[in-house]
Order: sequence, then C-alpha cells, then structure tokens
Amino acid sequence: MSSRRVKQQTDADKKLQEELINSGNIPNHIAVIMDGNGRWAKKRGLPRIAGHKEGVESVRDIVEASGQLGIKYLTLYAFSTENWKRPKDEVSMLMRLLMRALRNETDKLCQNNVRVHAIGDIASLPNEVQNELYDAIKKTKKNTGLNLLLALSYSGRWDITNALEKIVEDVKRGTIKSTDVTDSLIAQYLSTKDIPDPDLLIRTSGEFRISNFLLWQLAYSEIFISDLYWPEFRRRELYRAIKDYQHRERRFGMVSEQLKEAKRNSSLSSKIYRSAAF
Ligand code: FPP
Repeated sequence: MSSRRVKQQTDADKKLQEELINSGNIPNHIAVIMDGNGRWAKKRGLPRIAGHKEGVESVRDIVEASGQLGIKYLTLYAFSTENWKRPKDEVSMLMRLLMRALRNETDKLCQNNVRVHAIGDIASLPNEVQNELYDAIKKTKKNTGLNLLLALSYSGRWDITNALEKIVEDVKRGTIKSTDVTDSLIAQYLSTKDIPDPDLLIRTSGEFRISNFLLWQLAYSEIFISDLYWPEFRRRELYRAIKDYQHRERRFGMVSEQLKEAKRNSSLSSKIYRSAAF
C-alpha cells in the first residue's frame, strides 16, 4: 500500500461531524459497494490497479471517519464471488493489495479501537491473505469501537445458499425442526449472525445495482448512490450520505401516521421498531 496518507481531518470536517452527531440519528450499520476504481484509473490513463490502490486510501479515510462518528458496523464489499472471473493478473494484484493493507493497517486499526471481521468464502482466498486476515481479526478482537466487516469472496446468494445447507443439515440431525424455520432463524445461519442489518447502503460511481451484496440483510436499508468513483469517495461524501439518511422516513412497511404516533410514545416506538421485520 502507498505510504502516502490521506489528508487529516480538517476543522471544517470536525464541525460537520459534530453537526451530524448532534442530530442524534447516526446509522448503526453502513454497508458500502465500493465501485469505480477501474474507471477512476482509466480516466487518468492509469492501469486499473492504480484505482484499487487509491481505493485503499478511501477505505482508510472512511474507516477512520466512521469510528469518529460512532458508527458501530461498517461492511465493505471488497471482493465478490464474481470478481474471481476478472483477469488473473488483476485478481492476484488485488489479493496482494489486500494482504499488504491488512498487514500495514492493523496497528492503526488497534489504535482506533476498530475490530475486524470477515464474511464470505474465506477458505477460497490465497493462504497468505487468509493468514493476514486471521491475524488482523485476532489482534483486534478485544476492540470495542467500530466493527469493520470485510466482505471477501462474498455474495448474497452464496450466503443464503450456505445458510440453507446448514439449516437442512440441522433439520436432518434433529437439532432443529422444519417448523422452527423463521426469518430470525435464517438470519442466525447467515454470515452476519448477530450483526444488525444495515441501516444505510452506499454505492459509488452512480450505478443503481445491489450486485449480489447482502441480499437478505438489505431488505429495509436506505440506499444512497454517490456519483463519485470509490477512490474519490472520502469523508465529506460520507457526511453527505449520512445527512441525506437523516432526512429519510423509515417506515418498515407501515404508514407515516403510525410512526408519528410511535415517536410520541417512545416505549411504543421501540416495540414497533422491534417487530418491524415483516
Ligand atoms: C470495484 O471497482 C472495486 C473492487 C472490485 C475492489 C475493491 C477493493 C479495494 C478498494 C481495495 C482493498 C480493500 C480493502 C478493504 C483494504 P471496479 O474495479 O469494479 O471499478 P470499475 O467498475 O470502474 O471497473
């Protein structure tokens, strides 16, 4: 990874950050489809890998800013199941980049109280990447700030298929009955077990697609599409996405009046939100 650091948080950034925090509605979980690295590079006459390298700088800035904002979960779609179909050279360069980023950034993640997790078919990654990943997971496991979930060799369909296979096995074994299968049970078999669903999905580069990301978990997430390519996506654009989110009305299939009533009665409000997953 480049030794060049992203610019430090400015006073204006701090002010914007405080405004967002004071508004009291910071998303608990943000998921990001980091798109546009290749196009960013192409526009500059650079090889695609230059876009991925600059993309790591954005990762660093967004992870730091998310921790400062008090976001509890940040899930980054770093490598999809379908990305294995890319040219061999690009795949191996991406793997090397990932390995180096994990190696170089783990100490900083520890300093910033960030805990690393991984979701996806981790066993399909090269051994060296798996080793760096497990090392980062182990070194950061006591951290209590931001939970950084790296989606690697991940796809939503892989996640659901995997969960169904395990459910079928447990039904056969008699650990569970087929009548036990509910949406909350399925959620417990997914790679995101015990992690709340994303409140906000951000996709960069102006594309309107979910691209086989957290298909189950995104059921009620708000979506923000940024026109910026991922290497250009820094904390200012994250602030803009959160500000936009703060103006959304999340109805979870209900009507506006029910939500207003729920707000007037905060105990009812938490009840409605708890039963909102229908
Ligand atoms: C999409 O851009 C990006 C990826 C497939 C890889 C994302 C990886 C990184 C930012 C680096 C490593 C990440 C971490 C967590 C350290 P694209 O190549 O599809 O761009 P294009 O659509 O313009 O071709």
